[in-house]
Amino acid sequence: QTGMFTYDPGYTSTASCTSEVTFIDGDKGELRYRGVEIEELATNHEYLESVYLLLNSKLPTKEELQDFDLELRHRSFLHQGLNDLFIAFPSNSHPMATLSAATAALSTFYFSHLDVCTEEELQVMARRIIAKMPTIAAYAYRTSIGAPFIQPDIDRGFTENFLYMMRAYPGGKMHRGINGEDVIRDIEIKALDTIFTLHADHEQNASTTSVRNVASTGAHPYVAISSGISALWGSAHGGANESVIEQLEMIGHVDNVDAFIARAKDPEDDFRLMGFGHRVYKNFDPRARILKELQVQLQYELKLDSHLMQIASKIEEIALNDEYFVSRKLYPNIDFYSGVILTALKIPISMFTPVFVIGRTVGWITQWMEFKKTKGAKIARPRQLYVGK
Ligand code: SDX
Repeated sequence: QTGMFTYDPGYTSTASCTSEVTFIDGDKGELRYRGVEIEELATNHEYLESVYLLLNSKLPTKEELQDFDLELRHRSFLHQGLNDLFIAFPSNSHPMATLSAATAALSTFYFSHLDVCTEEELQVMARRIIAKMPTIAAYAYRTSIGAPFIQPDIDRGFTENFLYMMRAYPGGKMHRGINGEDVIRDIEIKALDTIFTLHADHEQNASTTSVRNVASTGAHPYVAISSGISALWGSAHGGANESVIEQLEMIGHVDNVDAFIARAKDPEDDFRLMGFGHRVYKNFDPRARILKELQVQLQYELKLDSHLMQIASKIEEIALNDEYFVSRKLYPNIDFYSGVILTALKIPISMFTPVFVIGRTVGWITQWMEFKKTKGAKIARPRQLYVGK
């Protein structure tokens, strides 16, 4: 039934809900947002067009896109009452912990009539959290390095503003960028736009299921989003993008790849190749293919770390021809390629999963809205197979 979650040991063969948001064909390696192919969106549309499409089930006109962009800029500021929460966190806190807490705390400033919401109230709830997530993420990062917050600048678009809030010195002077310049270049914004587009939604993955579970109890949407942030943090899920870079650095040289592949195949060793495998894709993750092409395009412009790329290419070359991986249909997933680009954008590794959060907030809140509009939706209540005495 809609909203009821029924699982079976395979977890991927039973529908947990009905949805019109995102379609995945794991065998064909296909992904569509509201019926539009991910390749079409990532190549021929601006990031905010994909956000608007997910929220409104249609691509925006030029005017609608301008109004949407302007509204998100104005909604990107945080209530001053939140600042103390960031400062209360130990300065070495992982930004994901702060992100989850601050997003939950946001619910106290924006109470919603949880039972009855008009379409516009739902849309405002959604646009607000989408607009504020980059600011929350940037503030979480600045807290983790003991740096003062940089307020959003409404003369900068969604993605440029995030890089600005991450990099700028107090007073707005920019950190030295990739080539020592003090501006954020269009190529950096386009690269991060693509990453946000590819991470926007992905059907009923673990974190979205958490969001829908919490939504089904009638809790505030921002605490549902906070539960999604917590679920995404795990290295088996969104935290993998951080683990991939750590793993590539641990491998250290192409000559060491064989030994690590052997470990990943050893049933006695719980070592897994991070960025490989997927619950649904038993073919190439279409997002991984787009990011791999982006890596090649940006290699020189963004000075991607060729050392890490060589190790990653060696892993791919061996794993994609190795019976263990081929027989288990283990292919690179989105996390295998995103880290090298994020590193080149001077985004610290602790912020890789928060970047995933900024992208996925769009899908989480879209699916929250869909749940809220589903007639007769019931509270999630998975059952178990009792194997006790
Ligand atoms: C994301 O669901 C989504 O949509 C998620 C996501 C999204 O956009 O929301 O796409 C984002 O989370 C991508 C996945 C990121 N995680 C990682 O890259 C971590 C490394 N990958 C794995 O831990 C693993 O592949 C999972 C978690 C992704 C899936 O794990 P499962 O469900 O255990 O994989 P499986 O059941 O398909 O495994 C089958 C076999 C097992 O071996 P056998 O028991 O048959 O001997 O494949 C093995 C597994 O041990 N295996 C791996 C492996 N992944 C699976 N062996 C080595 N390295 C790996 N990465």
